[in-house]
Amino acid sequence: MNTNTKWWQKSVIYEVYPRSFKDSNGDGIGDLAGLVSKLDYIQSLGVDAIWLGPVFKSPQDDNGYDISDYQDIDPLFGNLEDMKTLLREANARDIRIIVDMVLNHTSDEHPWFVEAKSGRDNPKHDWYVWRDGEPGCPPNEMRSCFGGSAWEYVPELGQYYLHQYSVKQPDLNWDNPEVRQALFDMMNWWADQGAGGFRLDVIDSVAKEPDKMITAEGTNLHKYIKEMSAAVFQGRDLVVVGECWSATPETAKLWSNPDGSELSMVFQFEHIVLDQQPGKDKWDLAPLPMAKLKKVIAKWQQELNGKGWNSLFWENHDVPRIVSRWGNDKEYREKSAKMLATILFGLQGTPYIFQGQELGMTNACYELEEYRDIEIRNIAAERLAEGYTMESIMESIHAKGRDNARTPMQWNAGENAGFTTGEPWLKINPNYTEINVEAQEADPHSVLNYYRYLVALRKREDVFVDGDYQEILTEREDVIAYSRDNGSRKLTVVTNFTGETVDFPAEILENAGEPELCNYSDWPVDGKLRPYEARMYLK
Ligand code: GLC
Ligand code: CA
Repeated sequence: MNTNTKWWQKSVIYEVYPRSFKDSNGDGIGDLAGLVSKLDYIQSLGVDAIWLGPVFKSPQDDNGYDISDYQDIDPLFGNLEDMKTLLREANARDIRIIVDMVLNHTSDEHPWFVEAKSGRDNPKHDWYVWRDGEPGCPPNEMRSCFGGSAWEYVPELGQYYLHQYSVKQPDLNWDNPEVRQALFDMMNWWADQGAGGFRLDVIDSVAKEPDKMITAEGTNLHKYIKEMSAAVFQGRDLVVVGECWSATPETAKLWSNPDGSELSMVFQFEHIVLDQQPGKDKWDLAPLPMAKLKKVIAKWQQELNGKGWNSLFWENHDVPRIVSRWGNDKEYREKSAKMLATILFGLQGTPYIFQGQELGMTNACYELEEYRDIEIRNIAAERLAEGYTMESIMESIHAKGRDNARTPMQWNAGENAGFTTGEPWLKINPNYTEINVEAQEADPHSVLNYYRYLVALRKREDVFVDGDYQEILTEREDVIAYSRDNGSRKLTVVTNFTGETVDFPAEILENAGEPELCNYSDWPVDGKLRPYEARMYLK
């Protein structure tokens, strides 16, 4: 293997959404002590790092993505000592903690914003983005990602502040060098505490230019990122992943330049936003266009090869469960969960597993009142006011709502799925009696054990890191198949993306080498693939 390979290119990352992982004190909310108690489980998956969702002090308007103190832990999750324990215990297991850093905005309860709002002459005023204006007449049409205007009026100042997310998440003004310095100092402090890396929340939005309605990819964006890299990342062995909704292969090559001038890798969404109506948003549902999915996968594989580094994911805390979305969460739940895992793990990039994905956890299908997410509540209110039917709103929420992925982790078939002894903050998916860690530990053919196999396989074979990608049967919309070849090894991945038996040329399998992995117990080469069948071959 290439001697320039970085440890995080051979790694698998596990995302923990802290409030839904494991509760240690019966208040119904997952916490750091709960997570520490489950580190052996995470280690048993073979992963190298945990992306830890935000646990900093926060009013929890957006579940911690609204930070009021970057250097303290919210009492919901524990305290700084618990965080130090987590860092120590994880590092002792060779697991790095990737801290989720929200740098585009703070909470409106952060002391910086409280000061900024106290007067136009306050030295912190310019740390946020203000525009003069009259009530009821915002500076422009910019919209918040959670619905409504992105501008909020402060009568005492006669000014509006920008919030690309909720009104309780005012945008920081990155054009002020003091802001950047304060954030870099804070990140250095976390690196000194033993953080193994950072996940940078909506980092492509920091250099916004609101007067031009520019959110992502502002003129100064890559200048600021290079500055951050020099101030914090370079000279330290960190993994840094940027959440970049706007990334294209071209900009991804800047973000993840192998020269280390910006970040380690991008986390981009082009594949994961395909099942929505063109030009509309995620709530406007459309069937998954298979031809497009295949094109997008091929494009990123080929264009970043040797020039950048991608994250591989189907799920995170913002998107629905993949088995419900693009698999079949009924009769073929296990088969399709494994099929989707196979596609993902064969690609070039660093795979991410979102908690519960390794069990094939499914979407929740709740009543509106049972959801907790601010985005769900806002969109329901907005769409009702716009005249959508309740039925269509609920259909969108059941398909795309963020709480689908945020239901508590299903540890066992006991009370509250073993997540808490109290009242869970968000209803547990009733299928926990069937889908849970304990049941899958006991079953060698479980989705859980299939993921473990995939993680171990990636560690064993360099071709996963450096093999060139070649698509197989490009025109077919029912199968996804490809090979990866690094000159000494060749991996072949073959999957049936449908619930029907489909034809598949036997010669391809006959020439693919040794069977390595399959989600069925036998491997006939009879010109057919069974429903959601997935295979890997190595030669
Ligand atoms: C990111 C987070 C999401 C959050 C938003 C605002 O997209 O993943 O959960 O709501 O940023 O911070
Ligand atoms: Ca708790």
